[in-house]
Amino acid sequence: MAIRIIRTEEDPILRKTSRPVTKFDDRLGQILDDMKETMEKANGVGLAAVQVGLLRRIVVVDVGDGSGVLELINPEIVEADGEQEGQEGCLSLPDKWAIVKRPEHVRVRAQTRTGAWRMFEGEGLKARAFCHELDHLDGHLFIDRMEKMLTEEEVRRLQNERVNGKETDA
Ligand code: NI
Repeated sequence: MAIRIIRTEEDPILRKTSRPVTKFDDRLGQILDDMKETMEKANGVGLAAVQVGLLRRIVVVDVGDGSGVLELINPEIVEADGEQEGQEGCLSLPDKWAIVKRPEHVRVRAQTRTGAWRMFEGEGLKARAFCHELDHLDGHLFIDRMEKMLTEEEVRRLQNERVNGKETDA
């Protein structure tokens, strides 16, 4: 496994649309393993392949709820309901935090690393992470959808309140 470099806001690749994965081979497994390691090292709750420079529809999510690292390939939201408003950050925009509205609950259809289709369900932070990561696959960043940017002081206060040392950057 290897840590990959996380692309940041000024990199135009983040605005591009990722292409579907068609080969479920060893290389895909390697990418997933590297993405997982990169996300964990950065203390993030999610990472999309485009953030490490690969325009492929691949996402990893781990919101620390005990279900481990979820691997979503060619994911699509098939159901979304409710609404939540909360702070959101991104590993590609390390100094920015904003209030973003997202659905409270989503169902996502995606393939596993072997190509099998399965359903994922997310509520609260997990729903937020799914939406945030799937946005990356179409070149969208959370700042496109934000209600308001948080000030440095508000960010500091949130960092002090953060539980378990778990970031909410994705
Ligand atoms: Ni992000």
